[in-house]
Amino acid sequence: MALKDLAVLVLAAGKSTRMKSAVPKVLHKVGGQTLIGHVLGVGRDAGADSLHVVVGADMDELTAAIDPIPTIVQDPPRGTGHAVQCAREALAGFDGTIAVLFGDTPLITPQTLDTMRAEAERSDLVVLGFRPDDPSAYGRLVQNDNGELEAIVEAKDATPEQLTIDLCNSGVMMFDATLCWSLIDGLSDNNKSGELYLTDLVAMARMAGNTCAVVEASADEVLGVNSRADLAVAEQAFQRRARQRMLEGGVTLLDPDSVYFSWDTALAPDVSVGPNVVFGPGVTIDTGTSIEAFCHIEGARVGSGARIGPFARLRPGAELGDEVHIGNFVEVKKARVADGAKANHLAYIGDAHIGEKTNIGAGTITANYDGFNKHSTHVGAGVSIGSNTVLVAPISVADGALVGAGSVVTSDVTQDTLTVVRAERRDIDNGAARFRAARSNQKREDNS
Ligand code: UD1
Ligand code: CA
Repeated sequence: MALKDLAVLVLAAGKSTRMKSAVPKVLHKVGGQTLIGHVLGVGRDAGADSLHVVVGADMDELTAAIDPIPTIVQDPPRGTGHAVQCAREALAGFDGTIAVLFGDTPLITPQTLDTMRAEAERSDLVVLGFRPDDPSAYGRLVQNDNGELEAIVEAKDATPEQLTIDLCNSGVMMFDATLCWSLIDGLSDNNKSGELYLTDLVAMARMAGNTCAVVEASADEVLGVNSRADLAVAEQAFQRRARQRMLEGGVTLLDPDSVYFSWDTALAPDVSVGPNVVFGPGVTIDTGTSIEAFCHIEGARVGSGARIGPFARLRPGAELGDEVHIGNFVEVKKARVADGAKANHLAYIGDAHIGEKTNIGAGTITANYDGFNKHSTHVGAGVSIGSNTVLVAPISVADGALVGAGSVVTSDVTQDTLTVVRAERRDIDNGAARFRAARSNQKREDNS
């Protein structure tokens, strides 16, 4: 049987003073992705037919960041129930299931939404519950003897007896759209916060004879970010999950706890990663490649059987082929390095193309920036660039060429040419001894 359509509504209009930030809370990042980006991704992965985000007034930065996802402005924010009221027009005509997610709760999984969605086929309203170590601030889920959900009471409004309930509201809810619009205007702000609580929908639905159910999630998954401390906790939880996913996917991690991943890191089976490696967003690495200790890799693709590091930096636009070697203190930016090419020590390769099996000597620099513009370097296949060479871009070194160590090359090198650009050597017989003698005479005169 086909599932009912799903409309995802992400609430993000609340003030977030505790972050002490000029940046809207949900634009802070976990695993290299904004909090709201995680939530929207989960909505998409769960097969949402539509996505909307409820934002406050003056949240243009947020609206721009999530473009083209439509936003609904809630001005002023009067509670989670009011936020959903504001979406009535945007969801007019929709009669499937509405899922309410919070923009600051980034670690929920599509699997959990799937479980809730399956439950929403049987029940009119489904709440995602969890059992936190410290339930104090959360709304409590009140169940009857049959385990059916009867009400949600906010901590502030709960009786001492209700406060002993350890099953709490994560804030994530799914409900039938028609039911929602039939009840939601009945919400009242007659409570301790003076807000319209979305959670009151549960008792109202029960009163109207509807069924309400609870699905439980782990506390990790529904962790909400309200402060920098929460952000750090969320990052650690994200990393634990990412490390586990990598290990299960056939990646070797020598010291998992010291490796940091991004939300989209893609490592093929049989990639091996040493200690203290950081993967920024946009990294794809093919099978059999080894990333040695202390590498920083971002926006880069690496082929199979390559060896990167230790201490290498791959920046956005680095495209490395199969069997490439990039060694210690080598930085590659916006450069294609073809199969079998090597840069093993102390080099900068930027805005460049390096051909197959070419060897870049220690200390080689592509001088790509003249203070005004960036220029590119093209090095062909089978080239050997000697140590401490500066290739001043724009420049091209054709296949099979050989550039002598210490050269500063400012114009093109043709195929199979041996190029050496340095000052002529001059040997002065006994010159060093004469120099020393002259200096010590001078010193004697100065001191006399
Ligand atoms: C809410 C729940 C509580 C639950 C807790 C889980 C209600 C009444 N309470 O409480 O049961 O245990 O989350 O963390 O729902 N928002 C808006 N507009 C508003 C108010 C809030 O968009 O007018 C957004 C916020 O940006 C946030 C989310 O809704 O993303 C939750 O709001 P928040 O004020 O943090 O709710 P809590 O009081 O924590
Ligand atoms: Ca909250």
